[in-house]
Amino acid sequence: MGRPSVPLSADLPPLIMGTATFNSQYNPDPYALPTTELVHHALSRGVRAFDTSPYYGPAEELLGRALATDFVCSEFPRNTYKLLTKVGRVASSSFDYSPQWIRQSVRRSLQRLHTDYLDVVYCHDVEFVSAGEVLEAVRELRRIRDVQGTVRYVGISGYPVDVLCDLAEMVLRETGEPLDAVMSYANYTLQNTRLLTHGLPRLVAAQVDVIPNASPLGMGLLRRTGVPIGSMGDFHPAPDALRTVIHHASNWAETQGERIEVIAIRYALESWLLSAAKAGSLGSPLAQSADSHPAFLSAAHTGTGNRLGVSVMGVSNLDELNETLRVWRSIIDGLETRDNDDDNAPLLLPDESIVQAPGILTPSNGLVTDRAWSRSRRERILSLTQGIRDILGPEWVDYTWASPGPGFVNSLPEEHVAALRASAGTPPAAEQVSCGIFGDCMLTPPLEAADPRVERQTRPSGVDSRSTP
Ligand SMILES: NC(=O)c1ccc[n+]([C@@H]2O[C@H](COP(=O)([O-])OP(=O)(O)OC[C@H]3O[C@@H](n4cnc5c(N)ncnc54)[C@H](OP(=O)(O)O)[C@@H]3O)[C@@H](O)[C@H]2O)c1
Repeated sequence: MGRPSVPLSADLPPLIMGTATFNSQYNPDPYALPTTELVHHALSRGVRAFDTSPYYGPAEELLGRALATDFVCSEFPRNTYKLLTKVGRVASSSFDYSPQWIRQSVRRSLQRLHTDYLDVVYCHDVEFVSAGEVLEAVRELRRIRDVQGTVRYVGISGYPVDVLCDLAEMVLRETGEPLDAVMSYANYTLQNTRLLTHGLPRLVAAQVDVIPNASPLGMGLLRRTGVPIGSMGDFHPAPDALRTVIHHASNWAETQGERIEVIAIRYALESWLLSAAKAGSLGSPLAQSADSHPAFLSAAHTGTGNRLGVSVMGVSNLDELNETLRVWRSIIDGLETRDNDDDNAPLLLPDESIVQAPGILTPSNGLVTDRAWSRSRRERILSLTQGIRDILGPEWVDYTWASPGPGFVNSLPEEHVAALRASAGTPPAAEQVSCGIFGDCMLTPPLEAADPRVERQTRPSGVDSRSTP
């Protein structure tokens, strides 16, 4: 217990599967999604980290259900994958960063995810609350880490890069201990690279260990079909004019024989992997599958020996997962024999260096071909990215929307307040409720009824464990 002796970056994989899509924000009916198959498929293909949040509707429970199946329990022991979740965001306009709620939220996540520890817990969307509340929540998470050991690493997440930097600096200044992780989303994409240009230098100076980049598609903005619309309606904060110009860029990409989402995914994953290496991680890009030859080692399974920038992807179906993993695999192919972070490193090494490298078997000429193809693909993606940025123009390149939006007021749902009040036995003052800051009277958080539609499964649905590696 206490602060882990190794940093988070030591073995966090650089690709994390997000689960915000397991919610009605992105999809009309999250229960209709093949969530268990998605999790099983991801694990079988080497993904070893999942990001979730109690704010994502049933996502934690759906992820937990998939992880509790016989298939996962027998093939993937808990210590073989990482779980990252969050605290503090209760609903879209409701935040509770009180220590009492943090404790309850962590307990509930442990239960829902069927685990006795969480690898990372972020304070979710920190820009919506005061710096004081963030500090209190970070201290509480660290107290849980030190005393109970159910939390391993502590971070913050949110959108505005400057706010994240201010808070990371504040936490270091006030506590003497840096944050383990600061995650932003939609801030390192085809459209906006502020996380690199404005965030990385300050966050690294604030000694943040890992900076995961979430939402490579800008929460589904950068694709032919436009932003995802679930049963909660159009939640996406991008203004219409930006959506229109992205539509033009998508049409242009098609004239080049490409889909904008494919360009966007590859650009964000690959460029972040290389540019954010300083705040990246050393875990395997993809774990080796059980049926692969044990003597076959590749950068995908062993890493490169260097840190790689961490990304958090989001998918809703197997096709999207397969497409993202194909792109990821190809990006990693391009890292084979890479010996430094110089983007101008020679594209190919002599065949002998691969053939003679200790422990590396070359599957015929495939390795060389894959690497060469990957690197020429990278050049093409960078040139297409420039074409898309030219279409977006200075008005939209690096544009960011306001977060919180205008008129935001933190107000907690009645049931949250009522349950807190009932269990604490002392009613909170009205003004405390409206601003969302609870006093010590809030001793016990809401008792949420388990969603009857999420039942613990003991067998994977649609996945035959016998045929799965
Ligand atoms: N504040 C925070 O802490 C925060 C914020 C944002 C994200 N995150 C984390 O980061 C994860 C990733 O973010 P995100 O889900 O917003 O990622 P994203 O990649 O920006 O957007 C995901 C959406 O893009 C679509 N998509 C994915 N792959 C596609 C493909 N190959 N072709 C066409 N469309 C594709 C999917 O749409 P459909 O659903 O329509 O199929 C999906 O809903 C989240 O799940 C969450 O874990 C955290």
